[in-house]
Amino acid sequence: MARPASQRVIESELLDTLPANDPRAIASRSDLVRVNAVMFQSAIMTRLMRTNLERKPLRILELGAGDGRFMLSVARRLGKGWSNVELVTLDQADLMTPKVRADFDLLGWRVKPVVADVFDWIDKPQDGRFDAVTTNLFLHHFTELQLRNLLAATSGVTPCFLATEPRRSGLALWSTGWLRAIGANDVTLHDSAASVRAGFSGRELSRLWPRQSAMNLDERRVGPFTHAFAARAADR
Ligand SMILES: C[S@@+](CC[C@H](N)C(=O)[O-])C[C@H]1O[C@@H](n2cnc3c(N)ncnc32)[C@H](O)[C@@H]1O
Repeated sequence: MARPASQRVIESELLDTLPANDPRAIASRSDLVRVNAVMFQSAIMTRLMRTNLERKPLRILELGAGDGRFMLSVARRLGKGWSNVELVTLDQADLMTPKVRADFDLLGWRVKPVVADVFDWIDKPQDGRFDAVTTNLFLHHFTELQLRNLLAATSGVTPCFLATEPRRSGLALWSTGWLRAIGANDVTLHDSAASVRAGFSGRELSRLWPRQSAMNLDERRVGPFTHAFAARAADR
């Protein structure tokens, strides 16, 4: 079984370089729904949200939200007690379809998509404070320096930050080859292996969280493929 390097290796992902309406990109975003399912990402994020968020109604910011289908699946799992949520979805591409927006509406989630590069957004955050900032399969795109800046900005706008990322492990890297079996295309196969090589292990995200923050940090492997990180204000 191939082992990933002991250090993160960050390389550009094909989905980020293809035009949003390229057929291979469209197919890869559909693959991503299945990749999230086989990684149990939405079940893991749902559990993190249930454990760390008490106060409702909620304002949530999702970073690197993609087409919104990931958070929609989380919202469905959270169920009835979680209506009246305001969700700001930030992504560099305008990907959310009217159908996804309508499905959020049915659940009582009001969605405000923001199309921006996350680093432009952190230079001038304009959307106030959030009860939670969440992110899925996004942080691994960035270098340590970029992550330090991103996490510092995030800690200034929320008392609760929740992330579900790829785990950098031999098992996870080996398993990306099996995504062919669920019909994943070349873009997904490339990006999933690249994501694992850029993924996280140990306390790599905790070490990048701002030292002066008084938040409690929890970072661990969850399930076979996921690296989960939660930062939560001590008084919540
Ligand atoms: C692997 S996809 C994950 C999408 C979604 N979280 C999901 O699980 O389906 C990564 C997303 O990050 C977005 N992204 C990458 N770099 C970005 C940046 N610098 N600023 C904003 N969005 C970015 C991409 O457009 C893409 O939608």
